[in-house]
Amino acid sequence: MAGARGFGFQVPAKPAPLDGVVNLDDFEPIARERLDPRAYGYYASGAGAERSLHDNVASWSAWRLLPRVLSGSRAPETSVRLLGGSAALPFGVAPAALQGMAHPDGELAMARAATGHGVPYVLSTASTRTIEEVAAAAGSEAAGPRWFQLYVEHDLGFARELVLRAEAAGFTAVVLTVDLPVAGYRERDIRNRLAIPMSVQAHLPAGLAEGETEFTTYIDTKPELRWADVEAIAGWSSLPLVVKGILAPRDVERAADHGAAAVWVSNHGGRQLDGSVTAAEMLAEAVDAAAGRVEIYADGGIRRGSDILVALALGARAVFIGRPFLYALATAGEAGVEHAIAILGDELRRSLSILGATAVTDVRREHLRPAIVP
Ligand code: FNR
Ligand code: LAC
Repeated sequence: MAGARGFGFQVPAKPAPLDGVVNLDDFEPIARERLDPRAYGYYASGAGAERSLHDNVASWSAWRLLPRVLSGSRAPETSVRLLGGSAALPFGVAPAALQGMAHPDGELAMARAATGHGVPYVLSTASTRTIEEVAAAAGSEAAGPRWFQLYVEHDLGFARELVLRAEAAGFTAVVLTVDLPVAGYRERDIRNRLAIPMSVQAHLPAGLAEGETEFTTYIDTKPELRWADVEAIAGWSSLPLVVKGILAPRDVERAADHGAAAVWVSNHGGRQLDGSVTAAEMLAEAVDAAAGRVEIYADGGIRRGSDILVALALGARAVFIGRPFLYALATAGEAGVEHAIAILGDELRRSLSILGATAVTDVRREHLRPAIVP
């Protein structure tokens, strides 16, 4: 069966059983089996030698958690305030392009599963469903936050139209991604000759919807974007602006100076600059540079409730997760993503209790020590 917008990639309609899936990593082999190899390769790949892809997962283990005893609770408070709204859990679904390759319902299923559980859903500009379709699927604003991730493609006028559409549709923040001036060198996509039909993209200027294209021209971002543009984008709507894809402490300060309400520390899941620092490595410095002026989020390689605790202890307000949710979507659609959220929520609550914390907001740097054994 073809995807909703005519991918031509095979996506099995029948969901896979979830009984053997007990952690987030368990989704990957199932998804690999079910997905077209080009789709799996696109989701799984990092740039270059994939060193950063690997380091992202490994670097959360550079910190050990230091539990306190006789101070926990059976039902710790997991909710957090994000940009003035509330999220039931301190993790969200990172923006990921082309969710229609994983399941016919693509972004709709992912958004429903997330917002239905109070978990933030971030819709990519490079989606296979429109802003308005996803807003309708995500339901009332009383459910979890839904944010719109912006790539400035084509021209600023087109980008501004997307922001205004997102605002009108009830999205509650804009996430401007700034770490993709050009796409990273993705060797698996080159080997697989990944070609994306232009028609699968939900957000294109009129006249661009024809033909098949190389992946690298499929995302046509503007490499010459500057801080003045960030400030202008912050003023396009009443929505708070999150700047995603920052690693350097000085760039955290600049984002705060140019209208950002939050900074998302990320190396884009190891898909951009191979050999770059990881979010886990830069998080403490980013939090210190923010000095409370902007909220700090982090992503890259977070797979466990205990990884989330490390990020919160370093000072992140929330974390985001990319690939595991894509694999969960490929495994069993909306039910697969719900299962992933349930697993991570369970891991998080147990870890919090055993850490001796009664709320995620209690987790601090005093709960961390650097690892001695690598
Ligand atoms: C991404 N990411 C991403 N980021 C973004 O801002 N816009 C996008 O369209 C995409 N697309 C995308 C596609 C795929 C297949 C992946 C894996 C990732 C990056 C994403 O938001 C996030 O930063 C990383 O995925 C986090 O790393 P993990 O959790 O996948 O290790
Ligand atoms: C990617 C782009 C779309 O990482 O963000 O593939």
